[in-house]
Parts: sequence; C-alpha cells; structure tokens
Amino acid sequence: MIKKLCVIGAGTMGAGIAQVAVEKGVKVAIRDIEDRFVEKGLGTIRNFLGRKVEKGKLSKDEHDAILGRLKGTTSMEDATAGADMVIEAVVEDMTLKQNVFAELDKLCPPQVILASNTSTLSITEIASATKNPQRVLGTHFFSPVPVMRLVEVISGDKTDEKVLKSALDIMAAFGKTPIRAKDVPGFIVNRFLCLLYNEAADQIYKGYAAAQDIDLGLKLGSNHPMGPIEIMDMAGVDVVYNALKALYEMTGEERYKPSPLFERMIRENRLGRKTGRGFYDYTK
Ligand SMILES: NC(=O)c1ccc[n+]([C@@H]2O[C@H](COP(=O)([O-])OP(=O)(O)OC[C@H]3O[C@@H](n4cnc5c(N)ncnc54)[C@H](O)[C@@H]3O)[C@@H](O)[C@H]2O)c1
Repeated sequence: MIKKLCVIGAGTMGAGIAQVAVEKGVKVAIRDIEDRFVEKGLGTIRNFLGRKVEKGKLSKDEHDAILGRLKGTTSMEDATAGADMVIEAVVEDMTLKQNVFAELDKLCPPQVILASNTSTLSITEIASATKNPQRVLGTHFFSPVPVMRLVEVISGDKTDEKVLKSALDIMAAFGKTPIRAKDVPGFIVNRFLCLLYNEAADQIYKGYAAAQDIDLGLKLGSNHPMGPIEIMDMAGVDVVYNALKALYEMTGEERYKPSPLFERMIRENRLGRKTGRGFYDYTK
C-alpha cells in the first residue's frame, strides 16, 4: 500500500477519491486552483464522515485520525511532495490535463505513478505531454466514489506493465474492485451504458414503450437496481447527451448517434431532476 496520495482537483470526483484513500490509512494532499474550491472539497469529505459518526459507523477518534491525515492546498509543490501516487481529477479538457501532467512529470520522481480519472479522453494522449509516459495510466472511478465499488484501470500505449500491476493493487487496497481496460473511447462500462441510455430514449422517441415500462422492464426482467430512464433523469439529460455525442464523434459508430429525443428535451429544458422535468415530471 502507498503511504501518500496526491489528488489534483477537489471537485466531485477528487473529493471522493481523497476520502476513499484517507479512510484506508493513506495520507492525502488534495490540490485545487483556489482556496474556495479546496475548502468545498474538504467540506464534502467532512460532511460525509460526520454523517458516518452520527450513524455510529465511525468512532469520533477514527474520524479525527482520518481528518488528521488529510490536507488541502493550492500549491502543486506541497501537494506532490513525498507522494507515491498522483490521481488527477480536474475538469475534462485535454489541454488542461496535458498541462497538469507535464507539471507533475517535472515535480515527481520517475517512480511516482501518475493517474488520470478522465472518463472520455485518451490516456496515451495525456501521457504524451510527459517525458515518462511509462508511469502514466488511467484510474476511472465511478460516482459517488465512496459508494461505487468499481475502478477501471486503463493502460496507455506506453504504460509499463509493472506500473499497471501496482495501480491494480493500490485500487484493491482502497477497497475497490479494479478491472483492466484498454485505452478506447468509453473504456468498458460507459460503452455499454451509453448504448442502454440511447436505446431507452429511442424506444420512447419511436413510441414503442413508455418510460415507466422501460424502467420496470429492466428492473424486474434484468435485475437492474435502477431503470435507465430514472438514471438519466438523475444524471441529467444534457450530461447523458454530451457523453453519447462525444462517444459517437470519437468512434464514428452509428449505434452511439444520440436519439433526436435528447436534443428536443434539451430545447424544452427537460434536463431531469435538476430542472423539475426530464423523462418524468418532478414538479408535483
Ligand atoms: N462526475 C462524474 O460522475 C465523473 C465520473 C467519472 C469520471 N469523471 C471525470 O473526473 C474528472 C473530474 O470530474 P468532476 O465531476 O469531479 O469535476 P468537477 O468540476 O466537480 O471538479 C473539477 C475540479 O478541478 C479543479 N481544477 C481545474 N483546474 C485545475 C488545476 N489545474 N489544478 C487543480 N484543480 C483544478 C476545478 O476547480 C474543480 O474544482 C473529469 O475528468 C471527469 O470526466 C467524472
């Protein structure tokens, strides 16, 4: 197990990854560009842990020890100092990620593993911004990170097999189940999910089935814990549309071409729970 993890980006995913590691006894430094973002990330972790204490799932002593291992900073130098591994979770932008990796490559000794939590970008392309691409790979966590058990571990063209093995072991030590994925658009899981969501929208668009029947069909007939329509309303219709569009553009495969229903719903501001209406109506 590693002793210190550095997390770059204190948003939804960065805070979740930091929490998972710090709860497993690892020292964590989390870095964002402004104090208010660092504070927001730390606040999310404190709230999550506070609720665990209230529910009796964590003792006050354990809670204090966990927070004692966690540090927030805006300095790249402080965050990376002494780290055995860095996980980047900044916004999904290739140029930004390449800049972050070029800087990490200069700051961290060559044995330090550099991982990206990207959900759509190429690991090989991110790694090309470094002089040591053999130590760069992807660790794709799922949201909410403290709850979801899977991590896709993605090797780029130049990733060293030993680095990949170490990352798989570290993810397991974080309490996650890692799976190996190739550096292809959507890795493994999102390639399936995007097809499922597109098919669900297409059946509604063509008038083949009602939303409730699709959700019940997959929950009762295929043991899915939630129906695809419920999930799209929760994640955001625009978010699902953008993921599909990106996958369609990257693969050129017709099966990922977003159903016309998505654009119509976006025009009508039916984005899901966040706007009160999506496939279902939440205003009543
Ligand atoms: N949200 C999800 O469900 C999800 C799931 C899997 C993977 N991802 C991926 O994880 C990454 C982060 O997503 P998120 O949802 O946490 O985004 P987010 O917008 O919640 O957080 C991103 C954070 O990065 C910070 N940031 C920007 N530039 C930075 C820099 N140079 N150094 C440090 N911090 C910087 C921002 O200030 C922000 O706080 C993205 O690549 C995304 O595709 C997201």
